[in-house]
Amino acid sequence: MKTRLAAVAATAAVAAIAAIVAPAVPAAGTDTASLDRGRYLVRIGGCNDCHTPGYNEAAGRLPEAKWLTGSAVGFQGPWGTTYPANLRLVLSRMSEAQWLARARSEMRPPMPWFNLRDMSDDDLRAIYLYIRVLGEAGQPAPVYAAPGQKVATPYIVFEPQNVPKHQAKAN
Ligand code: HEC
Repeated sequence: MKTRLAAVAATAAVAAIAAIVAPAVPAAGTDTASLDRGRYLVRIGGCNDCHTPGYNEAAGRLPEAKWLTGSAVGFQGPWGTTYPANLRLVLSRMSEAQWLARARSEMRPPMPWFNLRDMSDDDLRAIYLYIRVLGEAGQPAPVYAAPGQKVATPYIVFEPQNVPKHQAKAN
């Protein structure tokens, strides 16, 4: 009896840890092939590089629970200061149709919006499904600041430096 109780306790502990570590459990009937494809596209599409704090430092070994929660470190350039959005929150407030429209619209640098634009509808739907199943987490990213506007957050200066004069015009 004692050993059985211990085994039950151990199982409960493992389940509790799994619940903390594992991403949200998809609802019954979720298309798991699309879900896996969404996860794969997010992973190799570079979305975590900017939208997940610490992802680069961890060489991509960060639990999915932390993925795509946005960054409070801005990118500053001639466009102003932009912050990688918290996609977990942004997508939780969008219908699939709104997502498809947003994914096909222009965004400010350094968001490689043209990569999203060029994805197939099926791939974009898979990303939508995956991020929705991850669920809401984290805080919204700071709001965009116009060129010349001072910001209080950390930021990365995202502009070519040391450009030879004869090339400066072409860039
Ligand atoms: C080089 C950094 C970078 C990468 C890589 C990147 N993003 Fe972004 N993303 C940004 C920044 C910065 C913004 C904010 C742009 C703005 O304010 O206009 C943004 C904005 C967005 C938005 C708009 C959010 C909103 O509020 O409407 C979406 C959607 C998005 N990114 C999705 C993705 C996806 C999906 C990927 C991977 C395929 C990705 N991003 C890869 C930096 C990046």
